[in-house]
Amino acid sequence: MHGIKTVGVVGAGQMGGGIAQVAAVAGFQTIVYDAYPASIERCKADHPKRLGRLVEKGAMKKEEADAALGRLKYVSALDAFGSCDIVIEAIVEDVKAKHDLFVKLAEMFAKIPGEQILATNTSSISITEIAAATRHIKGPSVAAPEQVIGMHFFNPVPVMKLVEVIKGLATSQRTTERTISLATAMGKTPIPANDRPGFVSNRVLMPMINEAFYAWMEGVAEPAHIDEIMKLGCNVPMGPLRLADFIGLDTCVHIMDVLADGLNNDRYRACPLLRQLVIAGRLGDKSGRGVFEYPKK
Ligand code: CAA
Repeated sequence: MHGIKTVGVVGAGQMGGGIAQVAAVAGFQTIVYDAYPASIERCKADHPKRLGRLVEKGAMKKEEADAALGRLKYVSALDAFGSCDIVIEAIVEDVKAKHDLFVKLAEMFAKIPGEQILATNTSSISITEIAAATRHIKGPSVAAPEQVIGMHFFNPVPVMKLVEVIKGLATSQRTTERTISLATAMGKTPIPANDRPGFVSNRVLMPMINEAFYAWMEGVAEPAHIDEIMKLGCNVPMGPLRLADFIGLDTCVHIMDVLADGLNNDRYRACPLLRQLVIAGRLGDKSGRGVFEYPKK
């Protein structure tokens, strides 16, 4: 019932690349764009490797991987998105950058017949606020606030089953149903949530991660032991401090700020030690060091 054939992905980083891979494997024509040519090149090189690995493991036939790669197109201009039925945005977590992009996309789709959906993979920015940027755009076919929705994927996208589907204030029921149907067709488990700070996932996860930093800062246990206790005691694949490094400590601080400001409650303030590590440039896996060290492979 989603009626979607072509998926556009803006942002070819880890999340966007993963979303594009999953869409192409699920049989959708997939167009990937990134403002940085180097990101597109990395993504283009990464997809055959990742799909090749799945073939090696016996999780996919070689013909299926080749067909998925054949459905992937990498472009250097947004104009190529005219044929998309949905665009999933996975760019930097910056309100202004997202506003600018959504306005551009909505203006383009206002001139093209169809009911294109504009989805954002934001982990913490309000869907209503992103959608509001498109409210002045009028045309015969308008991807206006009713067609803007949150599609929150989890890292690593090809592995993680969940898509948190977040309805903004103006998102239509039809957009929500089509998005849920699309996420299911992509092999994911979509679960709806409302547009409140952090939605459900980060409202619950981030305070836990933050508390692990407090436990470390107050000397309750050393980082490796905090993680081991949580892994073995709560049956999670990564302890909270390892997970913070995996997500990015700067992202964790950013999400805590969104929770503290949005819920107007200081109990969500980022732990000073977490903030200090970010200031020191220890951002986690991506910088080679966060709580733990990650020597280059
Ligand atoms: N892309 C694709 N596949 C990947 C992958 C990646 N980046 N990383 C791992 N995998 C897959 C591989 O298929 C791998 O199998 P192979 O070794 O056969 O290739 C399989 O996962 C297992 O990987 P590993 O053996 O390397 O390591 P692991 O068993 O420790 O699993 C993990 C790695 C899947 C990341 C696991 O540790 C895990 O699930 N961790 C928790 C991840 C999590 O909580 N993610 C959510 C973060 S929150 C978020 O994303 C949202 C937000 O808003 C902040």
